[in-house]
Amino acid sequence: MTTLKIGIAGLGRLGFIHASHIASKISDAELTAVCDIHEDRLAKAKQHFDPEYTYTSFPRLLENKELDAVALVTPSALHCGQIEQSLEAGFHVFCEKPLGVNLEECMMAKKAVDDHPDLIFMLGFMRRYDESYRYVKRKIDDGEIGKPVLFRGYTVDPVSAIDSVLSYIPQSAGQFMDMAVHDIDLARWYLKSEPATIYAIGGCYAYPQFKEYDDGDNVSALMQFENESMAFILAGRTAPHGYQVETEIIGTRSMLRIASVPQKNLVEILDESGVRKECSNSFEERFDGAFIHEMQEFVDCILENRKPEVRVDDGVESTRIAELATKCFKSNELIKIKR
Ligand SMILES: NC(=O)c1ccc[n+]([C@@H]2O[C@H](COP(=O)([O-])OP(=O)(O)OC[C@H]3O[C@@H](n4cnc5c(N)ncnc54)[C@H](O)[C@@H]3O)[C@@H](O)[C@H]2O)c1
Repeated sequence: MTTLKIGIAGLGRLGFIHASHIASKISDAELTAVCDIHEDRLAKAKQHFDPEYTYTSFPRLLENKELDAVALVTPSALHCGQIEQSLEAGFHVFCEKPLGVNLEECMMAKKAVDDHPDLIFMLGFMRRYDESYRYVKRKIDDGEIGKPVLFRGYTVDPVSAIDSVLSYIPQSAGQFMDMAVHDIDLARWYLKSEPATIYAIGGCYAYPQFKEYDDGDNVSALMQFENESMAFILAGRTAPHGYQVETEIIGTRSMLRIASVPQKNLVEILDESGVRKECSNSFEERFDGAFIHEMQEFVDCILENRKPEVRVDDGVESTRIAELATKCFKSNELIKIKR
């Protein structure tokens, strides 16, 4: 069996997690090279994973022809350029969401992917690899809920993470692009249609700092899709209780909900406070299994020479919608989407 040699770029919050999965949990793959512009992050990765190569320069990583594939977990604004460079250098590419921070650069990345049909490209919308989300998808596709009517998705970060969030607002491209893009992707996936109209609102309810970037600490959008189904999404940063990712799909015959009460595990605590369950506290904790499944799928797709389900077009469309939602939020106008 071939072992794929993977190089990872970006060893921050999520990059370190992907690196640890590739190093120890993904079959038929090895973490051969790591790259980050910060020496201290490289040193930490070297100590934990002992990769053969370490780089502070992304172009130098791409000169390593021993590699088969690269995983891009760098800041979102770098994704599209690095996708193009990696494909040009002959590597299969896994890239974290969002594909890019505006439609124009996404179209360039799409061209690069389309120009290299022999190379595998996969985008990291990991919720599609979470067991509950896949289970719901099967039920929708099997017609169990009837005709889908409404998708509702909430993604709210714990307020305990607010300092770290405030430090990266300038690079985040806004709540719709950074957070709501997951729910935008899920809505498209579940409703099997594209939005025709979109309206977005929100505000700075607790943290005026977001205003400086024309953003809100909680924002929402309402969309009507071309097949008449609806979607309502909320992205926020002020959950007092933990990490809240809640999804509901209402059909003409039944409704399905995923994690409407977010929970860490199945344990119930009965103590002097009453009866309670603990809440998941971070994306790392809630979606660890999904991150492993998606990376395994990337590796399997390369080895079996098949295309992953999450394609570059999903990245283009989700960024297009997130960009329009941001525009709506700023202008307070309903937008009719032309394709
Ligand atoms: N799927 C998810 O739920 C999820 C969760 C978190 C982050 N993300 C995405 O992952 C990406 C990274 O997010 P993060 O939170 O880990 O960010 P981060 O800021 O913690 O890490 C980014 C890392 O990239 C490094 N870097 C910057 N420029 C570089 C370059 N030119 N070459 C190599 N390394 C470089 C930085 O030094 C840093 O270590 C973002 O696109 C983000 O949207 C996705």
